[in-house]
Amino acid sequence: MVAGVHCVVAIDGPAASGKSSVARELARRLGFAYLNSGALYRAITWYLLQRGVDPRDRAAIVQTIGSVRLNCRIEANELRVRIDDVDPTNHLRDDPVNRAVSPVSTVPEVRQIATAEMRRCAKERSLVVEGRDIGSVVFPGTPHKFYIDAAPDVRSRRRAAEGFLDEIAARDRVDSSRRASPLVVADDAHVIDTSNLTIDEVVDQILARLRKEHLPIPRRMNFYYWLGYHLSRMLARVFFGFRIIHRERMIQRGPVILAMNHQSYFDPPLAGNASDRAIYFLAKKSLLRAPVLGPILPKLNVIPVELEKTDRSALKAVIRILRDGHAVLVFPEGSRTPDGSLQPALPGLGLIIAKTRAPVVPMRIFGAFDAWPIGGKIRLGPRITIVVGEPIHFSDADLERGGRDVYGSLSRRVMDAIAALQLPAAKVDNRVAQQNSASILQQ
Ligand code: CDP
Ligand code: CDP
Repeated sequence: MVAGVHCVVAIDGPAASGKSSVARELARRLGFAYLNSGALYRAITWYLLQRGVDPRDRAAIVQTIGSVRLNCRIEANELRVRIDDVDPTNHLRDDPVNRAVSPVSTVPEVRQIATAEMRRCAKERSLVVEGRDIGSVVFPGTPHKFYIDAAPDVRSRRRAAEGFLDEIAARDRVDSSRRASPLVVADDAHVIDTSNLTIDEVVDQILARLRKEHLPIPRRMNFYYWLGYHLSRMLARVFFGFRIIHRERMIQRGPVILAMNHQSYFDPPLAGNASDRAIYFLAKKSLLRAPVLGPILPKLNVIPVELEKTDRSALKAVIRILRDGHAVLVFPEGSRTPDGSLQPALPGLGLIIAKTRAPVVPMRIFGAFDAWPIGGKIRLGPRITIVVGEPIHFSDADLERGGRDVYGSLSRRVMDAIAALQLPAAKVDNRVAQQNSASILQQ
């Protein structure tokens, strides 16, 4: 996924085939937002019932929804629907809505409103959308289409187990036989029968297929990464009172550059702890030949680069990682600080930003230089803290500013954001304060 271009995974199928459960879990695993299109049709149906409109009276429906405002917002990766500024969420599964939703959904004007709103949402976020006509009508252009099904008796049992009175056979009939966007298997959809599958098994099948379709799937932490992640945090806490301030600002999905000042060899594993997912790191090729640690490094997402010769390979590696939708740690200064102060940023970071448009999360590490200075020994005692800054998103205008030095100016903007990060007031001691002002003067 290239930054700025959004993906849609379409999941269609009849009632109780497992669409919602599968789509929600899939969205979580992909880092996409989850959009349940049925909720839009249910919201419109509830709205009509509220106004006493007969769900089989097309003319009345068309007249009533003429000026309706249907609005979707993605909150915490889930859809929130509002209709004429009212949130109908608690009524979407009411019995009268269950009974009326399929006839209402046959009305082309109703479908137009819902379809337009879904397409608008897809301009904002990558989505997993589930429904009846997502692959065939709403997003026919997406290459990622699935149709999930299950035997009618299995589906009836599933609904009954949920305690709903839902005549799904009747809804299936209306949904499949209507003229406007009926429930059909899109020509290029991948069909999965879920009768004997668990939700996780269906999600795994879909993910395997998406991998074949070259959709980048965020990696779960492998065992080595997981161990390194937790061990580094635990040891750093015990020996250096390690803490991360404003970790909630981290972007946990999609491409992102973690940009931090570089003080010591402790920095990469500690910076990795600011993210919930496995991020990528760059390291000199020679490090991978080191005994013991060398062979494990690729499992820790360490990408070998020829840092000694030229940093072209490093730039290419970072751009590839970001285009695949992952997070990567970048040190804008290039190498460790010789004296604890911040160094000027190299233009490489600006080039990466310009080529990928990935957002940057600025981070500043304090205390790691005192704990392990360049050319010195490890000293226990200094407290290590990382402060996470607000993410920076770059616009077209940002890329036009700065003229020929555009890369340099983008890098400097990030370095300024890093320099602006401070320890919480009560914790700033004189030494750090001096270090901060000296650093900012250097910019
Ligand atoms: O969850 P369940 O499969 O029972 O239904 P839903 O996804 O909430 O959808 C409720 C109804 O909305 C369906 O029975 C269809 O009549 C209609 N619908 C539609 O026509 N097109 C969609 N893309 C989604 C739902
Ligand atoms: O959205 P849709 O109506 O297609 O189905 P759902 O609401 O996701 O699933 C209906 C019920 O079937 C839920 O209680 C699921 O937990 C259950 N289910 C299942 O037991 N096994 C599956 N493979 C899929 C769903």
